[in-house]
Amino acid sequence: MTTAATAVQDPQLPGDQPVTAASARQVTKAYGAGETRVTALDAVDVDIQRGRFTAIMGPSGSGKSTLMHCLAGLDTVSEGRIWIGDTEITGLKDKQLTRLRRDKIGFIFQAFNLLPTLNALENITLPMDIAGRRPDAAWLDQVVTTVGLADRLKHRPTQLSGGQQQRVAVARALAARPEIIFGDEPTGNLDSRSGAEVLTFLRRSVDELGQTMVMVTHDPVAASYADRVLFLADGVIVDEMHAPTADSVLERMRRFDGKRTS
Ligand SMILES: Nc1ncnc2c1ncn2[C@@H]1O[C@H](COP(=O)(O)OP(=O)(O)OP(=O)(O)O)[C@@H](O)[C@H]1O
Ligand SMILES: [Mg+2]
Repeated sequence: MTTAATAVQDPQLPGDQPVTAASARQVTKAYGAGETRVTALDAVDVDIQRGRFTAIMGPSGSGKSTLMHCLAGLDTVSEGRIWIGDTEITGLKDKQLTRLRRDKIGFIFQAFNLLPTLNALENITLPMDIAGRRPDAAWLDQVVTTVGLADRLKHRPTQLSGGQQQRVAVARALAARPEIIFGDEPTGNLDSRSGAEVLTFLRRSVDELGQTMVMVTHDPVAASYADRVLFLADGVIVDEMHAPTADSVLERMRRFDGKRTS
């Protein structure tokens, strides 16, 4: 039997697409030293399945952002190994890592990070313009239609609602067809209606475009859009849930609250 772990350690089986879009093995991340040392991640093993929507939850300070940043190559690990697809990123030189991030990874941040002087379409294609790559017109069309922005492409960010601005940020992440998209509380700054709009789109991008999504969230409703939820506590993955509902996630989160000491 092939386990996920062997698939990662030997990701280039002939004719096989790796089923994992990202993997971590025994990843530890510590900040500081001596008495001020904080272990943000403690020997984490995780496989992010391709074409699925994964949510990461856990109390504040549990290591969610750190895990996402390490998986996305935005931060270095103290120990352990990380793969994006079949490429190990731990140990890559800066230049190679920058290229891999540009080609294979999309990001959606809590603040939309749109440029105010560019219209929606220009914001969407900006990273590719900077990289000197021509967007695939058919794909761009499909992305823009799926996000429901076709009639807003000439608008500047200030002329768009919060939800629409975040959908522009989502379209920007999708435009380059990254292997995986990471979002750190992408609906954290949105009211519930705009949040639902963005989450519905993220779900569609997984179902209809085959995108791989990883989203950090505090919101059980947001997590219920995912296929699978990973629960972090004190830098360790302590639980996971498949086919989550808002109620089942809330129930699981309550058990953390009961145990909180700070
Ligand atoms: N640059 C840093 N220097 C020192 N400690 C850090 C740094 N970044 C994070 N930490 C610590 O690592 C731990 C995990 O932080 P992280 O930001 O991953 O938590 P989180 O789960 O994303 O929390 P939140 O829900 O509040 O965003 C925390 O104890 C935090 O204080
Ligand atoms: Mg965080």
